[in-house]
Amino acid sequence: MYKKLTALLLSLILLGLTVTACTKEDTPKTGSSSQLSDTPMTPESTATFDETMNTDTAEKDGDIKAKNNDDISSDALKAEKITVSSKDITINEGETFLLTAEVIPMNEKAVWSSSDKTIADVTDEGIVTAVKEGKCVITAAAQTNSDIYESIKVTVRKKQSLSSSQSEQQTATSERNNDNEDQKPQQVEAISLNYKAITIDIGEKATPVVTFTPSNDIDNDKINWSSSNEFIATVDSSGCITGCEEGSCIITAVSESNKDAAAQIDVTVAKPREPAIDDNAPQEYYIDGILIVNKTYSLPRDYNPGGLTSECAAAFEELRHGAAEDGINIYVSSGFRSYSTQEQLYNGYVSMYGREAADRFSARPGHSEHQTGLAVDCNYAGDYFAGTPEAIWLEEHCYEYGFIIRYPQGKESITGYKYEPWHIRYIGDMAQTIYESGLTLEEYFGISSEYNY
Ligand code: DAL
Ligand code: ZN
Repeated sequence: MYKKLTALLLSLILLGLTVTACTKEDTPKTGSSSQLSDTPMTPESTATFDETMNTDTAEKDGDIKAKNNDDISSDALKAEKITVSSKDITINEGETFLLTAEVIPMNEKAVWSSSDKTIADVTDEGIVTAVKEGKCVITAAAQTNSDIYESIKVTVRKKQSLSSSQSEQQTATSERNNDNEDQKPQQVEAISLNYKAITIDIGEKATPVVTFTPSNDIDNDKINWSSSNEFIATVDSSGCITGCEEGSCIITAVSESNKDAAAQIDVTVAKPREPAIDDNAPQEYYIDGILIVNKTYSLPRDYNPGGLTSECAAAFEELRHGAAEDGINIYVSSGFRSYSTQEQLYNGYVSMYGREAADRFSARPGHSEHQTGLAVDCNYAGDYFAGTPEAIWLEEHCYEYGFIIRYPQGKESITGYKYEPWHIRYIGDMAQTIYESGLTLEEYFGISSEYNY
């Protein structure tokens, strides 16, 4: 229950963004609708969240997407990846266990099967029933692409003989479970949180995600939260941490059903950082006619071209056609993002992963190239995109259309961001020279990308 609520809360942080994105997306190929729940809560894969939420994409983007749809063959809608809720489960004879699977990019239903139904069977909905002691494998396969599947190792244990009090408890639990058509373990074995340390500002909030072991939903378990120093940070009954005063403390989460199942977070509370205000600073920074936006150079809150600029949109359209001629389908998953959209995105990530981690893949408001209307995230914005034919094509050809891969691999210390093979920046004629130089925009112009706050 708690886990569901936490997941729901996190989804709500970003829901407004996603809902808008989904309504503007005509094709499931963009993957926006599935990506909130797709990605495990690790900073390594969070770009998936970040880059696909395009709330402010203007009509120009919409036009591009609509045209893309015409070109997308049914083959292009095949499943590309499947993720399952557990890879290894142990259940007792007679027990049931709910497995879930998510198919990317479209959220189609998985096809479930068991290697040995005499040991454990599985329904079309992923409900596993343990029949007799032994081991087998349950498989979740994509309907539209049988090459895409995940296997779950299942161990069925012999039913333990119970003492009379355990037996009564078991009977009660079974009755409750029968009502729910789903058996749950009586006790949590362990809990973990999605981060071990976090830095937040005074007044800032963060809500960690709790994962239970065993990993099936434990409706009746509750977490008791506490802070080692409530002057520094408080935590409420739903795990929402609030920074109060500069300093460090520890937030502890303990399972109510098992006091040994506990996890901690080191919390550092910092003073809010204010951007250094320099009244003489230019509002937008250009070098050789190129608008520079990175961690050093920002845009004012009200800088808003209202979508991709006409030049960028036209160049992207050319790129898309060029790719199609090579049999490659490239489409916009996120184009223009306003200051406020970026603010919500970035704050959502800080809340989930902490500022330090978020700064590696998401720009602070005013510092995102998406606000320029000159940047496009192509196709699937997540680690999974790297190395795909689409990513390779972009790497080799985007300069021909005036774009560069803005955050190349191995250049995080220079650009300030992890590798983003999907994020292309429209530069115009100079793109070819920059591409041939093998340099990042920062190296090419000899500029930094570092926050001063
Ligand atoms: N992911 C890039 C850095 C952005 O947020 O603009
Ligand atoms: Zn991007």
